[in-house]
Amino acid sequence: MAAASDLAGPLLGWYAASARDLPWRQPETSPWAVLVSEVMLQQTPVQRVRPVWAAWLARWPTPTALAADAPGDAVRMWGKLGYPRRALRLHGCAVELRDRFRGEVPDDVDALLSLPGVGAYTARAVSAFAFGRRVPVVDTNVRRVVARAVAGQGSAGPPSTSRDLAAVEALLPADAAVAARLSIALMELGALVCVAGTPCCAACPLADRCAWLAAGAPPYAGPRPRPQRFAGTDRQVRGLLLDVLRGADGPVGKPALDLAWREGVQRERALDGLIVDGLVDPLPDGRYALPGG
Ligand code: ADE
Repeated sequence: MAAASDLAGPLLGWYAASARDLPWRQPETSPWAVLVSEVMLQQTPVQRVRPVWAAWLARWPTPTALAADAPGDAVRMWGKLGYPRRALRLHGCAVELRDRFRGEVPDDVDALLSLPGVGAYTARAVSAFAFGRRVPVVDTNVRRVVARAVAGQGSAGPPSTSRDLAAVEALLPADAAVAARLSIALMELGALVCVAGTPCCAACPLADRCAWLAAGAPPYAGPRPRPQRFAGTDRQVRGLLLDVLRGADGPVGKPALDLAWREGVQRERALDGLIVDGLVDPLPDGRYALPGG
């Protein structure tokens, strides 16, 4: 088993030389900007997040600024990042930050967990990356790195928040700032080198101490996740309906929405879902709008 001290040196050296230069990792990035980046990055690739993140923060540099605008403005600004409920949750977060935290993002994991849409991953990512706290940050990339380097398994087993957090916590050095840096380095290694498909072990700073490589890199024998289909799904239809609303200056009539997807049953189901989720407001006059204040 690799110990904390075994991983930190090579991993931090590798991170200093090889990490991507991502804007939310600049030292002057505000905690709010880090929180926004983490919510956007959860289900969307880095390159798609970059421009939307920059535009979002240019318009709403603080939670209080976002809280003053309508939730629909957040949905509009979210653009095509996908999973647009995240935009509503960020707006809800901004309102809570204004009302309960004087407009500041808290540094403490429990306070962060009390915010809408902030789960185990996001709370710890913000605490570590924005405030340099020593808290384990566990995403799928980190789980895979630890499964390989430490446990000698080709892939992580089923997730378990408490077990996964304990496994990563055991790897963190005592110094908080170094631990926070190690957390992001573990994540970056999983994103760039120790990838799910064919890992690039020749470029890995942990290759000489990786338990999985030492065991001959046994192939993963468990079930493979099924690739998610997008074309033709309700998620696609919801995206098309939201595109119509985003592209309009104000409320739109039903005929405009009907043009977005021919098949009526699926279209109505998608529209109902958007309404239930609070992403679309049905107006008394029969038209539809992005959610108001
Ligand atoms: N840097 C900090 N958090 C990140 C994330 N979730 N994805 C990519 N880069 C990051």
